[in-house]
Amino acid sequence: MRRHLAAAAAATLLVTTATSVAFPAVSAAKPTPPSPARINTTVFFGRVAGEDRGGGVMDPPRTAVDDLHWLRYDARSDAAVLAHLADENEYANASTWGLRGLRDTVYDEMITRIKEADRTAALQSGDLYCRKRIVGLAADRSPAVGSLSPDDGRVRWADEELGDEETYLDINALAAAANSSFYAATYVTVSPDHAYVAYAADAVGAESYELPFRRIATGVELASDTVAAMRGSFAWGADTTTFYYTTQSATNRPENVWRRTFVPRLEEGPAAGSDVANDTLLWEDPDEGFWVSLSRSRSDRMLMFGSTTSDTAEWYVLDVVADAATVKGGVPPPTPTLVEARGASLYFVEHLDGDTLVIKTNAVDVFCIIVISALS
Ligand SMILES: *[C@@H]1O[C@H](CO)[C@@H](O)[C@H](O)[C@H]1NC(C)=O
Ligand SMILES: *[C@@H]1O[C@H](CO)[C@@H](O)[C@H](O)[C@H]1NC(C)=O
Ligand SMILES: *[C@@H]1O[C@H](CO)[C@@H](O)[C@H](O)[C@H]1NC(C)=O
Ligand SMILES: *[C@@H]1O[C@H](CO)[C@@H](O)[C@H](O)[C@H]1NC(C)=O
Repeated sequence: MRRHLAAAAAATLLVTTATSVAFPAVSAAKPTPPSPARINTTVFFGRVAGEDRGGGVMDPPRTAVDDLHWLRYDARSDAAVLAHLADENEYANASTWGLRGLRDTVYDEMITRIKEADRTAALQSGDLYCRKRIVGLAADRSPAVGSLSPDDGRVRWADEELGDEETYLDINALAAAANSSFYAATYVTVSPDHAYVAYAADAVGAESYELPFRRIATGVELASDTVAAMRGSFAWGADTTTFYYTTQSATNRPENVWRRTFVPRLEEGPAAGSDVANDTLLWEDPDEGFWVSLSRSRSDRMLMFGSTTSDTAEWYVLDVVADAATVKGGVPPPTPTLVEARGASLYFVEHLDGDTLVIKTNAVDVFCIIVISALS
């Protein structure tokens, strides 16, 4: 593999210009932070008898001594914990008192942009995914109606130019069906042909996910399709026949990259056997220090998958159009291209178009973006 980074054609520095902010003088008397009691507690990571911590947890469990564990009271009613929180609030107020004018200025400026003073965080559930078909599409699927917004140059449609609203995923209903004190569904991703939705569901709170596939028209999810212990990321391929996802190791670290092929099983209905056993392992990273992930490029053409730590990385690119074509043609799939083996630098890859990859790297002294030609 040639060293693409050395063959950098151009390097562009991204420089942010910031207007300077005058910080008011902070009063000399420095408040002291509260100092909560230290009480050694042994905490367990992994399987614990009598607790449902989701699939794929460490067994036997590991332990650690945490002397602030007593602060974790899920019921949020313990008097000592509440007293400590009050002390923290008082300390935060006292130590930022000199900045209150600036704080108010920033707050006032922010609410002029978001036009909303308060937002509540949605815990457990609270999402409804809806869509409307654009009625006025020309034959080439360009918008025949709608108008260009001067704000961002994107097309907007009026209500009468849109079809009926369809709910394709009701997370409140999923949460109710799960009958669990915790439920979260994230990464809701509709297939390229708009017929299926894949999402990551956690009914335990352990961040180990089930990954079901739902046929939107019928609401049917086949248990045999569902990936257990998904962790990390997933993406549809160039069409609904291919799908990529990561699964976790025994230590709950995303470790493996898989390809699933949905041809022709997806259309067969509930009698079909398990797809999971047929999924192909594209890559695995046994190094415990690395975190495996994947994503589709902005061009939609490439799958980028690989592994990172805070200061090094190793990425591969795979042409998803060629990959989907081999599914239909019965020829071997393309081999992923290694961009740069893990080494002394952290980098990320993006594909915009053509045979050019954009690399964001700290391989030189400053973080920069390098455009290289890699896909010949
Ligand atoms: C708490 O645990 C730490 C390390 O596990 C130990 O060094 C320390 O002495 C313990 N403190 C008490 C009060 O037992
Ligand atoms: C915040 O700190 C200031 C200055 O110490 C004090 O006058 C004020 O009462 C405090 N406010 C609250 C809510 O604690
Ligand atoms: C929901 O869970 C509770 C507590 O675990 C249980 O008592 C109840 O029967 C469950 N309801 C349904 C409909 O499964
Ligand atoms: C699994 O793969 C085998 C061999 O390619 C194929 O014959 C079989 O139909 C597949 N099973 C499913 C459930 O897709």
